[in-house]
Amino acid sequence: MTFEYAPALESRSIVEIKSKYGHFIDGKFVPGKKYFPTLNPATEEVLSQISLGTTSDVDKAVAAAQKAYTKTWSKMSGKERGKYLYRIARILQERAREFAVLETLDNGKPIRETRDIDIPLVAAHFFYHAGWADKLDYAGLGHSPQPYGVAGQIIPWNFPLLMLAWKVAPALATGNTVVLKPAETTSLTALLFAEVCQQAELPNGVVNIVTGDGSTGATIVNHPGIHKIAFTGSTEVGKKIARAIASTDKKATLELGGKGANIVFDDAPIDETVEGIVNGIFFNQGHVCCAGSRLILQESVADEVIEKLKVRMTKIRVGDPLDKNTDLGAINSKEQLLKIGELSAVGDAEGAERWSPACSLSEKGYWFAPTIFTGVTQAHRIAQEEIFGPVLSVLTFRTPQEAIEKANNTPFGLSAGIWSEKGSRIFWASQQLKAGVIWANTFNKFDPASPFGGYKESGWGREGGRHGLAAYLKTGKESGAK
Ligand code: NAI
Ligand code: MG
Repeated sequence: MTFEYAPALESRSIVEIKSKYGHFIDGKFVPGKKYFPTLNPATEEVLSQISLGTTSDVDKAVAAAQKAYTKTWSKMSGKERGKYLYRIARILQERAREFAVLETLDNGKPIRETRDIDIPLVAAHFFYHAGWADKLDYAGLGHSPQPYGVAGQIIPWNFPLLMLAWKVAPALATGNTVVLKPAETTSLTALLFAEVCQQAELPNGVVNIVTGDGSTGATIVNHPGIHKIAFTGSTEVGKKIARAIASTDKKATLELGGKGANIVFDDAPIDETVEGIVNGIFFNQGHVCCAGSRLILQESVADEVIEKLKVRMTKIRVGDPLDKNTDLGAINSKEQLLKIGELSAVGDAEGAERWSPACSLSEKGYWFAPTIFTGVTQAHRIAQEEIFGPVLSVLTFRTPQEAIEKANNTPFGLSAGIWSEKGSRIFWASQQLKAGVIWANTFNKFDPASPFGGYKESGWGREGGRHGLAAYLKTGKESGAK
């Protein structure tokens, strides 16, 4: 027997979207020169027009951030800065529904995720860092660690407001001011966050938001007034940034791609594991740098896991992201949909076997059915390259050592998962895996207290926790401390 779900649409009337937006500089919205549209990827409806940041816009934003840094923010006590962060966190909670609906409209991710995961985590990041603002002397980073000055922050479209929070909250807590650029397809929640800064009466210029594309991002990276860069996005752009700052004294954290291995040992609790596999790759349409996009199954349980996974995948509800029943929303952009389609076609051509459950996809908007490829080998491109979509590559292994070798055999090293009932095996495997984050018997769990970041081409540095604070502070001799 199957159940038909009645539609359960979240109302969009809670958000007011303006017809166009300027940049947020020195506490005010200032009009841009040129505009470009932002779409709802589920319907292709144009939601608003966003300003394309120019060199002069970036200059003004950096000047405002510099002034706010020297005149106000670096002079303020940690306790006072903390009050602003607490205030922002509380306003974000009060306006959580508005942010959740707006994020779903602009990004295409399901309301169930924006409401229950993205926005609560955003508030949690501000609360967590508010608590650190007056305790930096006790963070184990030496006596009186000092901020860098103006941080340039460039974020992607997969977790728009959450990546803003990962960047802005630690920067502000540590006494830096910021110029942030959201991704071109998802600027709306950052612009609503600018309103929150006004509502919290954050001093002008502490947070500046310049919208635009890669050229705007590059202008921020190369600006001489920027002292620290925090970037999340593709490995390709991460490498460009590393090259651009190589001969400067700019500090950088880079959070780049991944090809996370989710390893299932033969003693794993299979039903729970299947839930974890689904969460690992189909959460946020698979637009997750730490997604469990390579499933590595012990041969003796492979058939059972794949069979149960397929049954589970037929229950994934793909559809209107504003519907509270939806599990898998829209792909964020036409470009990303093309990329997912192209890499999946490579999987077919290389001889892997593709499977998706029957599901009807809307003609309008950008959609991709949940997909698994079995018979994948390490040489296949779909085992090596980030697809960044709801596509899982399945490999198998016989011995634990082989599992580790396969798991580590990519240019990346961001995340991994281990499914096993044996604690000793989990400890052994997690010590062998070259990944910044390792989950055991769970996947895609995030907490502001837990540092996040990668090995190899997955990036530099850590965000979150004490390690994340260190990325925004001069420590030891650098700080001029005696
Ligand atoms: P991207 O790296 O081009 O974009 C990320 C951000 O960087 C955006 O704000 C963009 O405007 C900005 N940017 C682009 N070029 C820049 C430059 N030269 N200097 C400074 N900033 C620049 O990523 P894109 O094109 O949106 O996605 C391509 C692929 O990257 C995806 O298919 C996925 O594989 C990966 N990706 C990984 C993410 C992660 O969380 N690690 C997030 C987004 C994408
Ligand atoms: Mg959009």
